Amino acid sequence: MEKSILITGGAGFIGSHVVRLFVNKYPDYRIVNLDCLTYAGNLENLADLEDKKNYHFAKVDILEEMALEKVFNDYQITDVIHLAAESHVDRSITDPLAFVKTNVLGTVNLLNAAKTFWKNLEGHLFYHVSTDEVYGSLPEDGYFLETTPYDPQSPYSASKASSDHFVRAYANTYGLRTVISNCSNNYGPNQFPEKLIPLVIHNIKNHKSLPVYGKGENVRDWLYVEDHAVAIDLVFHRGKLNHTYNIGGFNEWKNIDIVKLLCKLMDQKLNREPGASEKLITFVKDRAGHDLRYAIDAGKIHKELGWKPSVTFEQGIEKTIDWYLKNEDWLESVTSGDYQKYYQQHYG
Ligand code: NAD
Ligand code: TYD
Repeated sequence: MEKSILITGGAGFIGSHVVRLFVNKYPDYRIVNLDCLTYAGNLENLADLEDKKNYHFAKVDILEEMALEKVFNDYQITDVIHLAAESHVDRSITDPLAFVKTNVLGTVNLLNAAKTFWKNLEGHLFYHVSTDEVYGSLPEDGYFLETTPYDPQSPYSASKASSDHFVRAYANTYGLRTVISNCSNNYGPNQFPEKLIPLVIHNIKNHKSLPVYGKGENVRDWLYVEDHAVAIDLVFHRGKLNHTYNIGGFNEWKNIDIVKLLCKLMDQKLNREPGASEKLITFVKDRAGHDLRYAIDAGKIHKELGWKPSVTFEQGIEKTIDWYLKNEDWLESVTSGDYQKYYQQHYG
C-alpha cells in the first residue's frame, strides 16, 4: 500500500464523502475509517464501499488512547485526516463538556498517537479539518482570511479553535507535519437532520413547523459537501506544510431566504400549492450568542491549488432535496436510532 490513511469521523456527514472520494480515487491507498458511531455517525452512509479491498472500519472512540494506538499499529498508519468531532452549535450550548472531551481531548489524544507511532515524522501528515466559526462573527461586510485572528463565540467554535491551536502547537513543539483547513457551512446528502437545511427539508415533507431563529437575518456561506471533499483531497496532497487553507462557497444566504427557497422548491417537488410550505415558517427564540455572519475568502486555496466550487447552489440544493426525498429510510433510521442495527448486522 502506498499510504495507509486514518480518516476519523468517516461515518459522519462530511467524513463519509471524504472516505468515498479517497477509497474510489486511490485504490493503492488503504483507507481506515475510525469512528465511534455517535448519533451523527451512520455506516449506512458508506454501504457502497463495504466490498472495496482498500476500505476498513474501526469502531473506536478518539478518547480511548490504547485503542487508538492499536489502530495505528494494526494498520501501520502513515497519515491522518481528522474530522471526528461534536459538530452542532445548539448541542454545544446545552452540553459544552462533551465538546471539550471529543474536540479538544480527543484531538490531543490523536496527536499523541500520531507523534508516538511516527518515530520519524518525515513523510507523515496530520491533516486537521476545522471550521470558519473559529474566526468569530462578521458584521455585514468583510471576509475571513487565513490571517484573521481567532475569536470563537460558541462552545463549539471555542472547542474547535482550541483543537486548531493544539495542532499548530504540535507542529511547532514536536515538528509534527500538519495542515489545517477551515471551511464554511456544508450541505448535501447524509447530513444529520438537526442542521438547518436537512431539518427544514425533513419538516416541510412532514408538514411540521420550520423554526427560524430570531428574525432569520443571520448569514451563512454554503458549500456543497462534495466540493469540500475535493478541496480536502487537494490540501492533503498539495497543501503547503503547516499552512492553513480557508474553504468557502462564495455563496452567502440569509437563513430566512434559504428557508423560503426550500419551501418554494419543495412545493414544486411535492405538488403542493405555491406558498403552502411557507405557512410552516415559525420565528422562534434566537440561539444564545448567535453569530451574525460567516463569509470566507477562499482566494488562497484558489490561487495556490486551483480549487473553486464546481457545484452551483441551484444544482446543489436540487440534488440535496432529491436525495432526502429518495432516502426516507435513511432519515427514518437516523432519527429513530435504528442506524445502530446496521452496525450490529454488518460488524457486530
Ligand atoms: P458530523 O457530526 O456529521 O460527524 C461527526 C462524526 O464524528 C460522526 O460520525 C461521529 O460518530 C464521529 N465522532 C464524534 N465523536 C467521536 C469520538 N469521540 N470518537 C470517534 N468518532 C467520533 O460532523 P460533520 O458535519 O461531518 O463535520 C465533520 C468535521 O468537519 C468536524 O470536525 C467539523 O467541525 C468540521 N466542519 C463541519 C462543517 C459543517 O458544515 N458541517 C463545516 C466546517 C467544518
Ligand atoms: P446550523 O445548520 O446549525 O449551522 P451553524 O450554526 O454551524 O452555522 O445553523 C445554520 C443557521 O441556521 C444558523 O444561523 C442557525 C440557523 N438555524 C435556524 O434558524 N433554525 C434551526 O432550526 C437551525 C438548526 C438553525
